[in-house]
Parts: sequence; structure tokens; C-alpha cells
Amino acid sequence: MKRIPEPFRIKMVEPIKMTTKEYRRKALAEAGYNPFALKSEDVYIDLLTDSGTGAMSDNQWAGLMKGDEAYAGSKNFYNLKDAVHHFFRYEYLIPTHQGRGAEQILFPALLNRQKEIRGGGEDTQPVFISNYHFDTTAAHVELNGAKAINVVTEKAFDTTTYYDWKGDFDLEKLEAAIAEHGAKNVAAIITTVTCNSSGGQPVSLANMRAVYEIAQKNDIPVVIDSARYCENAYFIKQREEGYADVSVTDIIREMYSYGDMLTMSAKKDPLVNIGGMCAIREKKELFQAVQTLCVPMEGFVTYGGLAGRDMEALARGMHEGADEDFLSYRIGQVKYLGDRLVEGGVPIQYPTGGHAVFVDAKKIMTHIPGHQFPAQALINALYIESGVRAVEIGSFLLGRDPETGEQKESPLELMRLTIPRRVYTNDHMDYIADALIEVAKNAEDYKGFDFEYEPPVLRHFTARLKPL
Ligand code: F0G
Repeated sequence: MKRIPEPFRIKMVEPIKMTTKEYRRKALAEAGYNPFALKSEDVYIDLLTDSGTGAMSDNQWAGLMKGDEAYAGSKNFYNLKDAVHHFFRYEYLIPTHQGRGAEQILFPALLNRQKEIRGGGEDTQPVFISNYHFDTTAAHVELNGAKAINVVTEKAFDTTTYYDWKGDFDLEKLEAAIAEHGAKNVAAIITTVTCNSSGGQPVSLANMRAVYEIAQKNDIPVVIDSARYCENAYFIKQREEGYADVSVTDIIREMYSYGDMLTMSAKKDPLVNIGGMCAIREKKELFQAVQTLCVPMEGFVTYGGLAGRDMEALARGMHEGADEDFLSYRIGQVKYLGDRLVEGGVPIQYPTGGHAVFVDAKKIMTHIPGHQFPAQALINALYIESGVRAVEIGSFLLGRDPETGEQKESPLELMRLTIPRRVYTNDHMDYIADALIEVAKNAEDYKGFDFEYEPPVLRHFTARLKPL
């Protein structure tokens, strides 16, 4: 198994508190067996998310000192605009405080455009079609009265069989969904790169191209949801025929030629702790409509919820996130953890995705049924064993049927080990793998959970559980 050495050296360190199993058992009980309620200082390795948890470089920190905090027309906005143009070749930029900030100002504008230009019927519900909507993306679609439809390839649901492109659209399903709802009722197609919900899995250029052709044929705009575009580009370089010798920058440019606009959570690939954006290739009227929403929702159009210094760190981070030596290490580190787990007999979504290893808890905690949250049981066991905090993507997250109140059963019960960028070393990966292999060996020792307190919405953040 290949360990790719870190392409950086460490100039500053943040000590981590070391705790005992006894200490962690108590902390978890106090947290109601929900790791979201743990104090961060009681966590040894935090794999809750890769969002906003990366380490900035000396170059980015230096950029913070170059913040131009003018209310309008900050120098840093123009630096960011240059970086956006360099990679995506898009003309118009609106910074936002994070990804969902971009969603909340773009989607209403798209729906208005659909109503006005396309004459989408008042009586029919507009839809967005995506390979897979991220949770907040689906939430913003629904908050605006539209419906979110996912058409990711079926291959994504078979965790054990290798497939290069488990983030791809199923093109037949995409065309069927457009036919079913009528092209004029499709507000946009959203291409999510990489596809977070199927395991950080990449979308091929061939698929992005085909999706764009279908969209153009039907006069439907394409939005690229861009949280992990550099990782997606690197997978294309590694896997797609004819791209081994093409630079990541050129691959990114081709990816974005198959879209009309983008939303981005910059807290992932561009290596900042806060930030996002919406950018539009050439539709000036749409840009103006989004700007109009930006002012009351996010802030004036040249800062959109960010300080000047944040925009500078972001502009610099975009270049670092697309660096090929960095990406080789980044993708390599996540793959190394995945490979160690596979070798140790732990079932995962295979191949490993870009930002996380998704562990198939259903196959480990076979004695725990969905409504007793097998992935949550695995997460709690791993925390007690090692101080590693992971996140559940399964029935606990999914919730109840709003009409019947019954617990929905998730097709997959996953534990996501999300790796922050440039934060943990390869030794940390070995520590995580050793601990999880040990837990999986003794899986039958662990029990499922029931609710002590269940909030009515988004329960997984604040619920309290009790062991059965
Ligand atoms: N789109 C994708 C694909 C995402 O993964 C996220 C966030 C967002 C949009 C929203 O961006 O958080 O900046 O508002 N994903 C995080 C995660 C939270 O843990 O996967 P945001």
C-alpha cells in the first residue's frame, strides 16, 4: 500500500488533548450518544466533515494581512474574480458566505427566469434534476416550492463492486425525468462534483458532456455544484482515457465548459474555513437577478458575506487546491485509509472517494436493524475505542415519513470518515484504520440505539439516544 508523503512541512501545531476510554465513555453518555453533541476538545481525530476544517497555508495566512475591507469594490474581490476566471472561464462572480448562501440566491432567480422566459406552467411544480442533491441543496430547492430529483447511476448503490464513475448521471433516467416533467418545468440540472452523497465519487467528463448536450437540446440551464471540483478533476486525470497528460487546470476548464453557472462551497477544495460563491458564464440578466437577491440576503455584491481577507485567502486557496502534487497526496491519503480498511476486512464504498471513506455499517453491524441505527452504533464504538469522531449517513439522518410518522429505512447505512485537508498525517490514518479494524472484529459486542429525545426536524444534529 502506497503512502504518499505530505507535500508540506509543519510550521505551527495545535496540541490535541489525549483521553482514556473511560473518559470517552462518560463524555459520550453525557452527549446522549450523539457525537454532534461532543465538545471538540474531547475528540482526538475529528472526521465529522471536510468542510471548513482544512489547514490554510502560510501563503493564505499572509493573504489575510492583505485584506482590503472597503465596503464596495475590494481589491480582494478582483483577485478572486481573476482566480475564478482563470479556472472556470466564467465572467460573473458573486461571493457568498458559504455554499448554501449561493444556493439561496441562485435558485429563486432560476425559478423566476423559468417562469418568465420559459412560461413554465403555474399549475405544475418545477423540478431540479441532479446526479444527487446535497442535503442543503435539496432543502433550498424545496424551500422554493420545487422538487429535487436524483438520477445517479445505479452502480453507486452497489458498494462492493469497483466502478470508476459512481458519481455519473444515469443518462436514461435523466432523459426520462425530463420527459416525465416536461423540459419547461425543469428549472435546472445540477451536476454535483464530486458526488458527495454517493461517497465522494467522481463524474466523468464524458458524462458531464452528455448531460450538457441533453440540457442544451432541451434548453435547460446546467449548474455545477462545485464543492470538490479539484478532486473530481484529479480523478479524471487518473482514470479517464486521454487525460493522463492533460493538466488539472485544463481538465477543470473543460468540466466547466459543460455548465452555465456554478455554486460553490469554498470550504472544501479551495482550502478556506469559510466562503462560497456563485459564478455565471455569460447570462448577464441572470447575474443581475442574483445580485439583486445577494444584497438583502448575503451582503453587497462585491463581498457577499465575506471579509476582504477571506476573499484573499480563498483566491489563493483556489490555486493551492488545484496543485497536482497536493492532489496526488490528498487523494492518495484518503485511498490509503480505504485500502488499509479493505485489507483489514472492513467493507467500504469501493473504490474510495475523494474526501472521505464511506464505511458500510450494515455489513458490519449485521445484528442491528435499521431502526436501531447500525451506523450510529459503529460510530459510537469507534469513538470510545479511539477518540475518532465520524458521521452517520443512514436511517438516523434520514428520519421519518412526514405523513405516517414511521421511521424510513435507508438503503445504505454508512459511516463517513471525512478527511480534513492538510490537517492529519498519514500516521493518523494508520491509527484510525487500526482502531476501526479492531471495532469491526468485535462487532457483535455492540448494541443498537433508541431515542431518549427526538426533535421533529433535522433530528440527527440534536437528538439524544439511549443504548438498547
Ligand atoms: N454542496 C455539496 C456537494 C456539499 O457537500 C455541501 C456541504 C454544500 C453544497 C453546502 O455547502 O456547507 O458551505 O453551505 N457539505 C458539507 C459536508 C457540509 O459535510 O459534506 P456549505
